[in-house]
Amino acid sequence: VALGDRIKLGDYVLLYLDLERRWLAQVGEGSFHTHVGVVALEALEGLEYGSPIYTSLGRRLWVLKPTVEDFVMKSERRTQIVYPKDGGLILVKAGLGPGDRVLEIGTGSGALTTIMANVVRPDGHIYTYEVRREFLEMARRNIARLGLEPYVTFHLSDAKAGVEERDVDLCVVDIGDPWEVVGVVRKALKGGGVFVGVTPTVNQLERLVEALRSAGFVAIESVELLARKLEARAGRTRPATRMIGHTAYLTFARSTLEEE
Ligand SMILES: C[S@@+](CC[C@H](N)C(=O)[O-])C[C@H]1O[C@@H](n2cnc3c(N)ncnc32)[C@H](O)[C@@H]1O
Repeated sequence: VALGDRIKLGDYVLLYLDLERRWLAQVGEGSFHTHVGVVALEALEGLEYGSPIYTSLGRRLWVLKPTVEDFVMKSERRTQIVYPKDGGLILVKAGLGPGDRVLEIGTGSGALTTIMANVVRPDGHIYTYEVRREFLEMARRNIARLGLEPYVTFHLSDAKAGVEERDVDLCVVDIGDPWEVVGVVRKALKGGGVFVGVTPTVNQLERLVEALRSAGFVAIESVELLARKLEARAGRTRPATRMIGHTAYLTFARSTLEEE
């Protein structure tokens, strides 16, 4: 194992007992308390990912490298967030990749910001707008845990009043009244750029789609993704009885240039 692959001071690790019991911990001084015992955080330094570590009660935890999903689902949250299943489709429908520039309206807890910043780096950038300072600061803390701050510019500002950015590849809007920023977004997007709207209710979706049509957007599609977990056990595999029944509706569209 190369030295760089070993766990360093300051790294975040996932301490995994089972799917319901897994914790994100930062390697450093002190100890991490769980109901299956205490882990000395210094003991993690220098380990290889995939190693076992034993708690003070002798329970074995696996030390895993956290994925973006782990960070997002374990982040500080005080708003609705974009869930990994929805974030995944957004990335593919937008064709997002390294070097892309993204305008995001409604930073919230920064879950989607995290998912996108991880993909556009090292040369791309996310410009994100948030009206509430406490949410912006929370999102900044969440994003810092992955070391993604260099790829994100935070604006504490109401996007309805306009945005600074122009010629962006993608614009994602996740606010309560997205139709109010359709004009702002159209000016910011490059010709053919991708628009994504995230709305919790069909009423918001409908109003957004009408505004997109009036503003000359094309290829307008709305979708809902349902992710159902399966409990796989030899001879009796079946869907889980509980599921998250609703997260958000996604609306995709493409921007066009004015006709001559
Ligand atoms: C549902 S949250 C966004 C969640 C985010 N997509 C995530 O994954 O964590 C919506 C956020 O938009 C912010 N917001 C609402 N109207 C806004 C506006 N006009 N300009 C900027 N931010 C706004 C709210 O304060 C709130 O934090």
